[in-house]
This record gives sequence, structure tokens and C-alpha cells, in this order.
Amino acid sequence: MKYGFFDNDNREYVITRPDVPAPWTNYLGTEKFCTVISHNAGGYSFYNSPEHNRVTKFRPNASFDRPGHYVYLRDDETGDYWSISWQPVAKSLDEASYEVRHGLSYSKFKCEYNGITATKTLFVPKGEDAEVWDVVIKNTSDKPRTISTFSFVEFSFSHIQSDNQNHQMSLYSAGTEYKDGVLEYDLYYNTNEQEGFYYLASTFDPDSYDGQRDNFLGLYRDEANPIAVEQGKCSNSAQTCYNHCGSLHKQFVIQPDEEVRFAYILGIGKGNGEKLRTKYQDLANVDAAFAGIKAHWDERCNKFQVKSPNQGLDTMINTWTLYQAETCVVWSRFASFIEVGGRTGLGYRDTAQDAISVPHSNPEMTRKRLVDLLRGQVKAGYGLHLFDPDWFDPEKADVKPSKSPTVVPTPSDEDKIHGIEDTCSDDHLWIVPTICKYVMETGEESFFDEQIPYADGGNASVYDHMKAALDFSAQYVGNTGICKGLRADWNDCLNLGGGESSMVSFLHYWALQEFIDLAKYLGKNDDVDTYTTMAEGVRQACETHLWDDEGGWYIRGLTKDGDKIGTAQQTEGRIHLESNTLAVLSGAVSQERGERAMDSVDEHLYSPYGLHLNSPSFSTPNDDIGFVTRVYQGVKENGAIFSHPNPWAWVAEAKLGRGDKAMKFYDALNPYNQNEMIEKRIAEPYSYVQFVMGRDHQDHGRANHPWLTGTSGWAYFAVTNFILGVSLGFEGLNIDPCIPTDWPGFEVTRQWRGATFNITVQNPDNVSKGVKSITLNGVAIEGAIPTQADGSVHDVVVVMG
Ligand code: NOJ
Repeated sequence: MKYGFFDNDNREYVITRPDVPAPWTNYLGTEKFCTVISHNAGGYSFYNSPEHNRVTKFRPNASFDRPGHYVYLRDDETGDYWSISWQPVAKSLDEASYEVRHGLSYSKFKCEYNGITATKTLFVPKGEDAEVWDVVIKNTSDKPRTISTFSFVEFSFSHIQSDNQNHQMSLYSAGTEYKDGVLEYDLYYNTNEQEGFYYLASTFDPDSYDGQRDNFLGLYRDEANPIAVEQGKCSNSAQTCYNHCGSLHKQFVIQPDEEVRFAYILGIGKGNGEKLRTKYQDLANVDAAFAGIKAHWDERCNKFQVKSPNQGLDTMINTWTLYQAETCVVWSRFASFIEVGGRTGLGYRDTAQDAISVPHSNPEMTRKRLVDLLRGQVKAGYGLHLFDPDWFDPEKADVKPSKSPTVVPTPSDEDKIHGIEDTCSDDHLWIVPTICKYVMETGEESFFDEQIPYADGGNASVYDHMKAALDFSAQYVGNTGICKGLRADWNDCLNLGGGESSMVSFLHYWALQEFIDLAKYLGKNDDVDTYTTMAEGVRQACETHLWDDEGGWYIRGLTKDGDKIGTAQQTEGRIHLESNTLAVLSGAVSQERGERAMDSVDEHLYSPYGLHLNSPSFSTPNDDIGFVTRVYQGVKENGAIFSHPNPWAWVAEAKLGRGDKAMKFYDALNPYNQNEMIEKRIAEPYSYVQFVMGRDHQDHGRANHPWLTGTSGWAYFAVTNFILGVSLGFEGLNIDPCIPTDWPGFEVTRQWRGATFNITVQNPDNVSKGVKSITLNGVAIEGAIPTQADGSVHDVVVVMG
């Protein structure tokens, strides 16, 4: 079943019927003010932290997505009313038609009902801590119409998300005031003038208003049938205590074929409501702000555009996968309809991996995140698994929460710095390749020399931070020389403690290769020798202890007692995706074993929705393996199609030179390809999800946890760098694709350090891999393409064969 389509020209997904089987969400805001919004206009806003500075309320895990950011319309001659988004009033789809366009950092709602066409576009202008609702109401009937508009948001009780549920004082600690088209909401105990106030303003002069939620909704009613809308007028309520909302009402008389346009503004900061109300009364400023958002994303997306025979790949890479990856880099894992603001801060491994995909589109944020992560690394080399960058930001660390609610309470040093018992064995290793990619993109080689403090004191250069990470993994190995699993490795639920993780040893090997290339480039020969020796030791340990010849794959690890996990002899958890894909991706294993391992992956883990994480699922609890053995079968880390490591398989196949396999695996996971089977998928088709139910669960194929997953960053990195093969090294731009044999070629436009490269790849011999020649502006070139003059444009022709 199909609910919408991709509009590539506008970079939008268009929902044409709103009764989608789950709320399909979008993110508004590119800086500090963020709204997570569904196709029903359900959702919530926050500033900086959804845990600590929540602007509007949301009821998570309910059977509907409420409340939200709503506009109600009322025909004042008949008393009939509806909402511009289908929910919450939910007119019958036989009488009203709805369309939702989720674009990049905006969502546009349209409703045609009874001779009135109304649109509402929500977005957060760049540089402002506010969300603008651009509303247009057009009379398409042949008689004058008297139409009232009412806004509705429910303000958060407190800055602290959990207080919304369980803090009775919140009922008595806040209040609204109304003045000249602005309803201001004050959390009165707050002393920070700028951020302690929220507001809802309108560009029109309201006829009535409500700041008291229960006055607006009425007792024993909800957002579907507010008493104020039913009666055609708010009660002009604004006072301290109880629950608060923002509703501003105005009646318009609209002639046939005429329209009215106005804006509501939801934001933070005392006095800002008045300022922005005045600014956006000139609707040209609304247009300019919206154009700013469009330009923001065009600029980012245009850094890499592809035209290939695979329409789904083009749509996702040119727009949606980059957009999702950037969203993850900015908002980490803490704000969605699943993660509803229970925590602030960065997941070490998540952020380190997300950041590898965006140095070209968002170098500033990549750099910031790398510095955040390096500040969150301890001298011993490991990373703090979950931490808030503000703890280690000298400008913010001293600001106490009482002065600014936007700063997360700073814990004590003991609470901040956890010990080895709480350390994940992979976290720190991911930063090594990401740092290299950042410098290759920007050319900022001085970054390697920049001094950055460790979380537990002392400074080191970025280069030395990288060495500390690699040295930690060399030190924390078990009897076989394979890295210890510690609290967990990439798989949160594989808790091996002193047992050993093959996935981490392969990751260590990959990080070492990236570092050795760097050391060679910088001429640090001693380090080249030291780390080459270290890498060789890792490789030998892996080949000696991890290969299961009977199965034809790499095992997942060893328990603390030395029992192997993931062998052909076992009946559950026999084969795992992470160890086999990383074995090949890392370059540690031979072509022959690599091919056998990936053939086993195909044979045992493939499904039409992507590759399973392990198979068969575990069904017997075993605390030496970890919590994974207690997760339901076919769900999340136990035998689901866990999306994040799927792109590792695409990279592995690309490294083996098997483009048809790489594309088979890519196509299976690609949400675009499930647009016409939403009854199975349920989740939005423009976003990768964390996991898809595996074959050991009755909902096999159902996609869960959209948006905040490391899949997007890895999918983007894997396709652009390894399948399309347009990647950077320290010496310049390399082009070495691995594509399906039936592709006659493809085109890529890549901007790099101010120059534009229009790349045409030809595949006359129908190969998957291999480059016969490269020309730059008609002249043959060997090796990498060096940097070119700022603003210059170049034609690159690559012939495969
Ligand atoms: C989600 C976590 O955010 C990520 O860090 C982890 O790698 C995966 N779950 C797998 O456990």
C-alpha cells in the first residue's frame, strides 16, 4: 500500500493520504531551536536539549501523536470546524483532502475542505530561536466566507522534561500573560531573562486568546474538540498556575478567490515575541526566512550529487540520507518520537560515526563534534560512553543550572569520568578515521597539532589523542590477543566483560590502517613502524583465532572462559554480521576468506528487507554473552535486521569488487524501495530506521525507530566513497567505483575545497570494479586529483574496465 511519493525537484516527500499507519516525522531547525513534527502536526519543540529545555509538551508512546502545533479553522456561519493538519479534528477523508510535504527542515500542511483551501508551513528560520507558522487561507467557493483561525500549542510545564509527568509543583510554578498579540509563558522561578520565557505570537491583532489549556480545550474534552473552537471564541485567559497553552484567535471575512495570509510564531526569550511579530508582519520577511532554509540545504546537498541508473539510490543520496545523517550529527540520539528527551548528550560511538559522513557538507559541525569527542576521551585512551559536551566546554562548565536552564546540571568529577568497568571497547576507535576524513576534506592539517584537554586532565595534540585510542585497544586484549569486549562493543547488548570481541579487533585494524596512512603522510616514520607492527599483530591474532572453517565465517568473539561465540557447531547465534563485515572492511583478511565470509552472510543473514544481525536468534539466556540473549527473538540486537551494520556489508562487497552483491544488499535495506509496501514497513520511507523485525518475529519486515540511527551516516559514506567510489585521501580525490555490472556508468558532481568536479564514469565492458583511465579536463591523470583553484569547474572522465 502506498501513502505518498518522493518529489525530487523540491526535495520533499509528499503524503497524499494522512491515515498513515504510524506518525511520519520530520525535524525543523538547524541550530538550537528544534521541533520534531509528524505529518499530523503532532510533536514538540525544545531549545538545545529536549531533556532540559522543553518548550512544548508531547505524550510519548500514546496511540496518537498529541499534542502538537495546530491551527484550527472554523466556518463562523455554520459553526463547522476542522484543522489544517488531518489530526486532531480528523474530518472524514471523503469530505476533506489533505496533503503533507515534509521538506528539509520544514513541513507544509494543506487541507481542502468545503470551499476553503488552507496551508500551514512550519519552519525555524536560521539565526532565530523560534518556529514560524506561515498560514494561507483561500476562499475557493463562490460566496464570501467568515472564517476564524485558532492556534494551539501546549507549553511544557518546566524546563525539565520528566517534570511534565511527575512533578506536582510544576502545576503552580508557571503562568501566561497576554499583551498585543503575544502570549508569553513564564516559568517564574527562572532567573535567566533570555531563555526562561516561551511565547506564541501572531502577526494579526487577535480577537481573543487563551493561555489556560483547560479553558481552551474545555473539561472532559481533548484536542479533537476544543470548546473554544466549538464556540468560536477563546475565553481571554492568562494567569499563573495549572496547564498552559498558546491560542490566538482571529476572524476573517474572505471574498471568493481571495486569500488571507498571516503567521504565528512560537519561540523563546523575553521580548522576542514582540520583536518577531513586528518583523514577520512584513510577510516578505517570512519568504526570505524560508528561502534561507531552502538555500541552507541546497548548499549542503549540492556538495555531492549523483545521477545513476538506480532512482532510489539517487533520491536517497542526493537528499534524504545526507539530511538524516546531518540530523543525527546535530541531535545525536536524544530527540524523536521514540527517544522523547530522556537524556541529553552524545553517544561516543554514535557521534564519532555520524560525523564521518558530513565533513563535506558541514565541516564546522564535524570539527565541533570531533573536539567534543576528544574532550570526552580520558588519558588512558577510551571515550566516555555517554557525556554532555558542555561538561568539558570551558565557556559553559561554570554556568550553574539555576542561572541558565539550558545548561545541563554539571555532575561531579566521579560521576563524569567512569572507569574501565563501564567502558565500551569500540567507542574511542571510531574517532581515528573520522579525524582523518575531516582533514582530507578541509586540508586543515594544523588540526593534528591542536592541543585538546583529556576529560580527566592534561592536554595532548589531536594526533596524540589518536595514538592513545589505538594504544588502549592494544593494551586491553585477552589471552588470544583479541580486544576485550568490556561493558559492550558496538552491540550494546553483547556484554563480554573480560571476554573478547572480534568486531573490535577488526575495527582496531581498520583504525590502524587509517592512522598509518596519516603517519606516512606526515613523515612520522617511527610511528609508521610502531603501528604497522601493532597492526600485523592484530591481523595475525584475528586470522589465528577467529576463523571458523566449518562455517566459512569469522566468529563473533569469545566468552571470558574462552568459549567461542558464533560457530557452525552452535544452534543459536551461529553467524553474526558485525565480525564478518568488519573483517573485510578493515582490510585485515585475504580475498579468499573475505569472499567466503560474505557468501556466508548472504546465505544465512540476507532477507528482502536487509541483512540480519545474527542468526538464528538467541533463545537461551547466557550472561557470559550478555543481554542480547535476553532480548526477544528477531528484535533489536537479537536477530533483527539491525540497519547500522548493513552498510558495512556494502563496503565489504565493494572492497571485494563485487558490485552486484553490494547493490543487492543496498537495495534490500533502502527505505525508498519499500514505499509501496507500507502495510509491511509501517515507518516512513524516507528515513532509515534502527531495526527491522527479523524473521524470528511475527512482524518480520516492520521497521522501527526512524531517524536517529548510525545507519544514515554509514549508508551515505558507504555509497559515496565505496560504491560510487568518489573518496578523498591525503593526496587528493580518488575515483574507484564498485558498481553493478549492468550499470553503463553514472555521473557525480562533487565540490571539494571550492572547486567543482563534474565526473562522468563510463563502464563499456560491464565490469564491477577497475579503472582503465582517468582524464581531468581532457588530460590523462595518474593517481589522485589534487586540489584545484577556488571557484574552478572541471570535467573528469573515468573509464572502467
Ligand atoms: C543503538 C546505539 O545508539 C548504538 O550506539 C549501538 O551501537 C546500537 N544501538 C547497537 O547496539
